[in-house]
Amino acid sequence: MARKLVVTGRGGAGKSTFVALMSRFLPSPSLFIDLDPDLSLADMLGIDLEKEKKRTVIEVLYDVVDERKKGGDPLIPVEEKFKGLIWTEALYEGKGFDLIVLGTKDMEGCYCFPDHLMRKTISDLVKTYKNVVIDSPAGLEHLNRNIVSEIDDLFVVIDPSEKSLSHIKRVREIAKEVGIKYQNFYVVGNYMFSEEDEKFFETEKTSFLGKIDYDKLVEEWNLKGVSLKMLPDDSPALISTKKLLEKARVI
Ligand SMILES: Nc1ncnc2c1ncn2[C@@H]1O[C@H](COP(=O)(O)OP(=O)(O)OP(=O)(O)O)[C@@H](O)[C@H]1O
Ligand SMILES: [Mg+2]
Repeated sequence: MARKLVVTGRGGAGKSTFVALMSRFLPSPSLFIDLDPDLSLADMLGIDLEKEKKRTVIEVLYDVVDERKKGGDPLIPVEEKFKGLIWTEALYEGKGFDLIVLGTKDMEGCYCFPDHLMRKTISDLVKTYKNVVIDSPAGLEHLNRNIVSEIDDLFVVIDPSEKSLSHIKRVREIAKEVGIKYQNFYVVGNYMFSEEDEKFFETEKTSFLGKIDYDKLVEEWNLKGVSLKMLPDDSPALISTKKLLEKARVI
């Protein structure tokens, strides 16, 4: 059974960067799921989905729903059809890890059907991996949609502001409200954290795991769209990410 890691946090906290940095350390086969509509994780991992002729889960979903409306082939259950297309058209299979991107959801009307399909397909898909890492969009709505309800490690990436304390509380509350279970809850300080901030959050009993160090190359490369996979071994962001993963016993 795959270990499921979810990274959440406020906008721009450094969630996608943290996930991309993880890709250097997780054992194969691991699956990365990008729930963020701006598709930034693929860029950070140096994957050009268009060139690879890969589509988002939502794009595949549109086709299946459209076909269903038009009648479709009644002999193929819609779930089977969707699942098959996800494997062939949406899943990017790379060296060391695979990637799947959710995409933007602007389908009108009730979401029940797509959400049900997505939940079912994702839970089947993850079974074949050792680790599944989910990069979440900002905000907590995706937790509400409850695509993955049993999480092993929930990481909340925060900046060192007062607001982060209430954000951590909200994440716990929403998870409880919508019935998301997690084994471990970890707060991760982002690259803006000073040593003082670290001490403050440690004593605030927030399940503080540690911080990701500031890294000039990460900042530059994210701006230029250079893959973080090429970061040198002595990159401060990489070294601190490795420490965090070891502390959380992910590696
Ligand atoms: N360790 C780091 N060192 C330097 N800059 C960093 C580091 N981590 C993240 N950043 C910068 O912070 C900004 C936000 O990072 P990122 O896109 O990973 O955040 P996010 O939480 O995924 O954002 P969003 O909510 O938009 O998805 C980027 O410009 C990125 O380069
Ligand atoms: Mg992001």
